Amino acid sequence: MKAIIYTKYGTPEVLEIQDIEKPARKDNEVLVKVHASSVNSAEWHAMTGLFIARTGNGLVKPKNTRLGADFAGVVEAVGKDITHLKVGDEVYGGRSGAFAEYVCVRNAVTPKPANLTFEQAAAVPTAAITALQGLRDYGQIQPGQKVLINGASGGVGTYAVQIAKAFGAEVTGVCSTRNVDTARSLGADHVIDYTREDFTRNGRRYDLFLDIAGSRSWRECRRVLNPQAKFVIVGGPKTNRWIGPLSHVIKVRLASLGASQKVVFFVAKFNREDFAFLRELFEGGKIKSVIDRTHPLSEAVEAMRYLGEGHAQGKVVITMG
Ligand SMILES: NC(=O)c1ccc[n+]([C@@H]2O[C@H](COP(=O)([O-])OP(=O)(O)OC[C@H]3O[C@@H](n4cnc5c(N)ncnc54)[C@H](OP(=O)(O)O)[C@@H]3O)[C@@H](O)[C@H]2O)c1
Repeated sequence: MKAIIYTKYGTPEVLEIQDIEKPARKDNEVLVKVHASSVNSAEWHAMTGLFIARTGNGLVKPKNTRLGADFAGVVEAVGKDITHLKVGDEVYGGRSGAFAEYVCVRNAVTPKPANLTFEQAAAVPTAAITALQGLRDYGQIQPGQKVLINGASGGVGTYAVQIAKAFGAEVTGVCSTRNVDTARSLGADHVIDYTREDFTRNGRRYDLFLDIAGSRSWRECRRVLNPQAKFVIVGGPKTNRWIGPLSHVIKVRLASLGASQKVVFFVAKFNREDFAFLRELFEGGKIKSVIDRTHPLSEAVEAMRYLGEGHAQGKVVITMG
């Protein structure tokens, strides 16, 4: 099968498409023929060899040479211990090495939303699970709450705006000029163009702040938080070559010590229940995938390069074609 391989850390040019052996399915796994995948910052950090990524995957060169996490495709074979899926089912889920024509998956695989194409379903896993867990589990979002989403126009942000609306919140999205209309069309009640207005100085207050962009300091963000607000850190700038977005996390955690607001950083985890939860939101017409562009697997370099620029409008999808 064809798969994306990288044998050294670096810029997207380290990615190569190679023919490798199709994975062997175990009794507790399903074999999925992948139709589409999508690109996330996690792959960017793994590929560039951010120091903290290297600690888990080889200091000098990557031990795990495969990339990708999100997939949508069709079940081709089912292990004898699997009871929830059958051959031919259209599924989506998460599995490392998903930039490939096949993956073997144990847990994080479930029927895909029936109203989504494979491309639209492949956009979902990392980004929408992150948005869901950030808002619901860590932000404990409630109907009627005022929610600010800083970074409302990228992969995580486009789902976060819609999921927050689905939970009945009053949503303010922060993005740049070219994305204002999209954020509005996704249901944001208010949209702040960060190139024209400083959201930390407009006098409004929020109950929940989902910080996807990590573009502002704690001192600035605190100005817009109600005393009992939750501040959920999702990500931050890629600029620190040692620890990447974690530098923002550390700065905020230290600066917010003693504050009345609850500050939390989390790493999203795939689980079948959340995929099923999202499926209902999609099938109920509450949320949709926003796809910026689609590249075939042979253009993974371009897909990754574009993501690395940090201004994707929704998701960047890869098709196996
Ligand atoms: N904690 C987790 O489990 C988890 C999971 C997934 C992702 N993440 C992190 O979340 C972050 C975003 O991921 P993503 O996949 O959504 O990235 P993405 O698709 O590349 O989107 C980034 C978005 O950030 C916006 N942005 C850039 N500068 C901004 C600013 N100053 N103010 C407001 N928005 C700004 C961009 O919009 P404009 O073009 O309008 O500037 C762009 O749409 C990354 O740091 C990633 O590492 C964390």
